[in-house]
Amino acid sequence: MSNSQEWRVAVIGAGTISQRVHIPVFQKQPNTTVVAVCDVNAARAEAIAVETGVPNVYSDYEKMLAEMQPNITVVATPNVFHKPMATAALEAGSNVLCEKPVALTYADASEMFATAAARNLALTVGTHFRFTAPMQAAKNHVNHGFFGRIYAARTVWQRRNGIPGYGSWFTNKDLAGGGALLDIGVHTLDRALYLMNYPQPARVTGVTFAEFGPRGRGLGGWGSDISKPSANTRYDVDDVAWAQVVFADGAVMQFQVAWAANYADTFVTEIFGTEGGARIGGQDSVELYSMLNGLEVKTDTQLPAQKGGSYDQLIANFVRYLNGDTSADIVTPEQALVHVQIVDAITRSAAEGREVVL
Ligand SMILES: NC(=O)c1ccc[n+]([C@@H]2O[C@H](COP(=O)([O-])OP(=O)(O)OC[C@H]3O[C@@H](n4cnc5c(N)ncnc54)[C@H](O)[C@@H]3O)[C@@H](O)[C@H]2O)c1
Repeated sequence: MSNSQEWRVAVIGAGTISQRVHIPVFQKQPNTTVVAVCDVNAARAEAIAVETGVPNVYSDYEKMLAEMQPNITVVATPNVFHKPMATAALEAGSNVLCEKPVALTYADASEMFATAAARNLALTVGTHFRFTAPMQAAKNHVNHGFFGRIYAARTVWQRRNGIPGYGSWFTNKDLAGGGALLDIGVHTLDRALYLMNYPQPARVTGVTFAEFGPRGRGLGGWGSDISKPSANTRYDVDDVAWAQVVFADGAVMQFQVAWAANYADTFVTEIFGTEGGARIGGQDSVELYSMLNGLEVKTDTQLPAQKGGSYDQLIANFVRYLNGDTSADIVTPEQALVHVQIVDAITRSAAEGREVVL
């Protein structure tokens, strides 16, 4: 890993997430400059570079890597490109923040992390929801033993109308690899697994549906290339996934994600422990359940103020990690691999109609 104090960041993909998050947040980090941005849509890359003050624009990422020699590369393109782009950046000697899902399959993700390890470079993933104030408060309670042994979790992200990028790469299986399961599933898994201290998954049963997108329903506003529903709109990914994961230590997780549902927006992770339980919501709530002096109590955690949002925390931790700060909390290769392993197993279980043993 580089000990350089000067970070030169190159961004591949000038879409929604890099415009709103990667470029402005990296620009706030100490000794860090976003030196270049690349997109096959050259006009989009140019517009974002002008808006954010990034000095160099490319439409060919290999050329950008060769000429700019970044030591941090952000990969923020359609999912199918994550592996080749992250691998090219690692081979060019750059650390990588790769957007989620890190890869479409467990085998691909394993190869990517092996490439990073062989070069002593960091490869991490943008599953930032572990850094919300409620999640950090809940993690603090985990670290202090509040829950006792955590034997179960339920983790849910359901949107009422939230299919992203309708008609773009998001809803095209060849480019996205999957729908809600891959897109918001990895975030939803990371929230529960982070609090459970990443137990090893052993058995997985899952189902997926495509109930809304094929009918042009449940559409959300996220993404750069949304189209209006028409007979020609391609939609061949899932929009709902439910699963149960049993871990090697006997703990269980129930998992529900939906890009769209005839139900209220729901973003919650619940933890069940032998001594305490918790309900961790979106931005503002951590409810704790336990016994006090022989009585059942429910406590609301007063959340400490947090500087910036959860993605700010992820990027700040990544830069601190690269600077050698061993207390930095990053999404590790082992953790990112578990996300993809579980997603893989849910996909297989859904296709084959049976439990998958890992
Ligand atoms: N961590 C998070 O919370 C989060 C949130 C949103 C999106 N994402 C992830 O970020 C990635 C990008 O999503 P988005 O919402 O910005 O999508 P988007 O559609 O807004 O942008 C994608 C961009 O990639 C560009 N692109 C496509 N092929 C390219 C290539 N070969 N070379 C260079 N650029 C290319 C497109 O022209 C487009 O500008 C996806 O993997 C998505 O899953 C993560």
